[in-house]
Amino acid sequence: MKQVLIAGITGAIGHALAEQLLEQDPELTIVGLCRDPSSADFRQEYAGRVMLIPWDAAATESAVGVAGQLRELLPETTGLDMVIYAAGILHGPGMTPEKRLEDLDAQAFAHSFAVNATGFAMLVQAISPWLRHRRFKRILAVSAKVGSISDNGFGGWYAYRSSKAALNMLVRNLSIELPRKYRPLACVAVHPGTTMSPLSKPFARSLAQLKVHEPGETAENILDVAEALTENDNGTFLSWDGSAIPW
Ligand SMILES: NC(=O)c1ccc[n+]([C@@H]2O[C@H](COP(=O)([O-])OP(=O)(O)OC[C@H]3O[C@@H](n4cnc5c(N)ncnc54)[C@H](OP(=O)(O)O)[C@@H]3O)[C@@H](O)[C@H]2O)c1
Repeated sequence: MKQVLIAGITGAIGHALAEQLLEQDPELTIVGLCRDPSSADFRQEYAGRVMLIPWDAAATESAVGVAGQLRELLPETTGLDMVIYAAGILHGPGMTPEKRLEDLDAQAFAHSFAVNATGFAMLVQAISPWLRHRRFKRILAVSAKVGSISDNGFGGWYAYRSSKAALNMLVRNLSIELPRKYRPLACVAVHPGTTMSPLSKPFARSLAQLKVHEPGETAENILDVAEALTENDNGTFLSWDGSAIPW
């Protein structure tokens, strides 16, 4: 594995993934996508191996811009060995996870879908020329267990849950179409486990009874899952410990 693209490299999980990959393999280079590259902070020794490209999952045409810039940094023929979609949103300005029907807001829904689901599909479309090589490719969408329809016994968090369910469907669709052109590959959805991050921080009190991982632990778990992937895993929804999650 030599060239890895991480979307959401400024996030707690995305950044920890990048640092571990860079530490594990001195020959590996990373293409990192984020809204503001100046906010991505890497140790001096790694800085030369991280290429940052500005990208906003909620902006139409942003993925096309990524492909344009990527072409200048990495020839299509060199290819990407792994793509990790670690961008996501649960709360933000004008967005709070909904507890009841009255809380639903169309703009918050649209934004959640744009960042948590559509952004992934448009990115895979844009970078598909880098998937043409014949080495095994890993495409991981960082999803969430709360996006499982069959596991939902609790309700609430309408926009987040449904946008993650949409992300899962995109993974499943891509797992059917991509192998026709780009095999060998595995395209999977991965639940990272509850992780201390700006995304989970407002819920720290309700997380008290759950096992909460540090971002470094989560990155290690996700990379173990990634390492173990084979073509047989294509189209699955996996938890951080490698177990299968029902859709
Ligand atoms: N933490 C958990 O407990 C947990 C549990 C289950 C699933 N997850 C999933 O894990 C993934 C990573 O979350 P995290 O915990 O690392 O959260 P985080 O630290 O808040 O990171 C979120 C990432 O998403 C990016 N992002 C947000 N809006 C964006 C936009 N419009 N365009 C491009 N990027 C955007 C952020 O980039 P900026 O720097 O530009 O804001 C940041 O890189 C998410 O998909 C989340 O749903 C997390």
